[in-house]
Amino acid sequence: MTVATEVRAGELAALIAGAEVIVTCGPGGVGKTTTAAALGLAAARAGRRVVVVTIDPARRLADALGIEESTDEPHRVVGATKGAPRRGGAFSALMLDAERTFDRLVIDRAGDRADAILANPVYRSIAGSLGGAQEYMAIERLHELVAGSEFDLVVVDTPPSRHAIDVLEAPDRLVRFLSHPVYRALTLPGRSFARVTNAATTAFVWTVKRLAGPSIVEDTVEFFRSISGMEAGLRQRAAEVATVLRSERTAFVLVSSPRAEAIDESAFMAGALAAGGFRLGAVVVNLVHPLIDELAMSTDEPPDSSPLADQVAYHRELRSLALAERDEIEALTAAAGDVVVVEVPLLDHDVHDIAALTEIGTLLGLG
Ligand SMILES: Nc1ncnc2c1ncn2[C@@H]1O[C@H](COP(=O)(O)OP(=O)(O)OP(=O)(O)O)[C@@H](O)[C@H]1O
Ligand SMILES: [Mg+2]
Repeated sequence: MTVATEVRAGELAALIAGAEVIVTCGPGGVGKTTTAAALGLAAARAGRRVVVVTIDPARRLADALGIEESTDEPHRVVGATKGAPRRGGAFSALMLDAERTFDRLVIDRAGDRADAILANPVYRSIAGSLGGAQEYMAIERLHELVAGSEFDLVVVDTPPSRHAIDVLEAPDRLVRFLSHPVYRALTLPGRSFARVTNAATTAFVWTVKRLAGPSIVEDTVEFFRSISGMEAGLRQRAAEVATVLRSERTAFVLVSSPRAEAIDESAFMAGALAAGGFRLGAVVVNLVHPLIDELAMSTDEPPDSSPLADQVAYHRELRSLALAERDEIEALTAAAGDVVVVEVPLLDHDVHDIAALTEIGTLLGLG
């Protein structure tokens, strides 16, 4: 590493040390989940109490983090901070499970109506599949983790998305759903179902009745009525999370690969973050091919029949690929402005255990 890159990698370490929330975002398959886990682990090894919130991690990484499919509670990764330079750190992980988070939300907020809601067949069929539920629940979870005192740092992994701020629009979508005329009519207090005269609502109700039988209609109405009191709280927490995400407490880490397509998308996302008022803290370019030296050949090319010919061709191909990547990285560095850009090489193995995550942390300059 050159001196200049070392200094800049130190900036990433400082960013991780100072942030309370880190959000990794970027194009598909570039290593967002890997980077989120590696950053979180490095912070834990530096003495902080960290939770990584993952979405859909690769099965083997989930296993290494001890995230069982059956739970969405933070799970302490035993042994992760063993031999760490600083004591006092802890590394936990959780995988978002929209349905379970929904259940807990109902239990926490619906008081003595909670049991009825949870047992409601309509609730059971929509919890977890409601449009945007996953992103919405990410907001609820984030609110809970940031407001609580169990963790110093919450690292949030995001699904691949061209719209870096999708996750922030989820609450708006839910609020739009709650404002829908059919929903409104169904939850009007004190009105019996039969007397709802709005044509759209009546048509909707009859369709449901015909398809599913009368009891499902009552269940639906009952469900919508029971959650209507929770709406204000939902809106309020979404607004609070939006504020935290735009504050100095939060840093976004944009992860990319050096491929032209990914670089274009990342440059676009850097712009979208800035436009949305979010702080881009660092850019990680992952999966970079090392730049190998040019072949010093004193004589002419080896003839095609020579056993060396394939080697030479391969060497040249790798070198031109690495050179093309350098150009791409430069373009992204320019788009990132002042923000530190750290490169991580393509390793010859997957990153599916604590040892490999620690290795990525070291490559990120995080000790
Ligand atoms: N530097 C690296 N060298 C080699 N393999 C890597 C490196 N970084 C990540 N990987 C591997 O690449 C694969 C994709 O990584 P990861 O799941 O973190 O990407 P992602 O951006 O989260 O993907 P998605 O967009 O699907 O969520 C994984 O198998 C991971 O182990
Ligand atoms: Mg991922």
